[in-house]
Amino acid sequence: MTLLQSLLHPSASLAVALTMLLASVLGPQPVLAADTSAAQQLSQWSAQAGSPGNAARGQVFFKSTHGAEWSCSSCHGVPPTGQGKHASTGKSISPLAPAFNAQAFTDTAKVNKWFRRNCKDVLSRECSAGEKADVLAYLINLKP
Ligand code: HEC
Repeated sequence: MTLLQSLLHPSASLAVALTMLLASVLGPQPVLAADTSAAQQLSQWSAQAGSPGNAARGQVFFKSTHGAEWSCSSCHGVPPTGQGKHASTGKSISPLAPAFNAQAFTDTAKVNKWFRRNCKDVLSRECSAGEKADVLAYLINLKP
């Protein structure tokens, strides 16, 4: 059967129609994770900040409060290598340090969403590229 014949074949076009119907019913599917890595995030934020992330500064930043009630460690724990616990809901949070959680920092949209939200909660503003680079440098340095 030629390609054209197979395309015109009734069962082939039925399959195409079904696929399209299914796609339109289900709508756009969420993009699967793993479009980035912690190392890529670190180099991206470092480049944007114009200097490499500093782990020692990231550690201080992570553990400190910044004018509000919570620090990053209030929910993610210190060091953030084990399960965290949400400071207000008590919900369990997967480890933030990438060596302890293969999913951490693998999904750009998720990373950006949580950076925005958590920085607003802790600093009442978004984190700068330099602060994100420092936090990443600190987290990447945490090894089992
Ligand atoms: C009020 C609780 C809370 C605080 C405070 C908090 N976080 Fe989070 N954070 C969460 C929760 C909940 C998630 C989502 C966890 C999940 O779904 O895996 C998360 C996820 C993240 C992620 C995404 C990680 C990933 O899976 O790729 C980053 C990055 C992050 N937090 C950074 C920070 C930083 C930096 C601070 C401090 C400025 C901070 N968080 C403070 C609750 C918090």
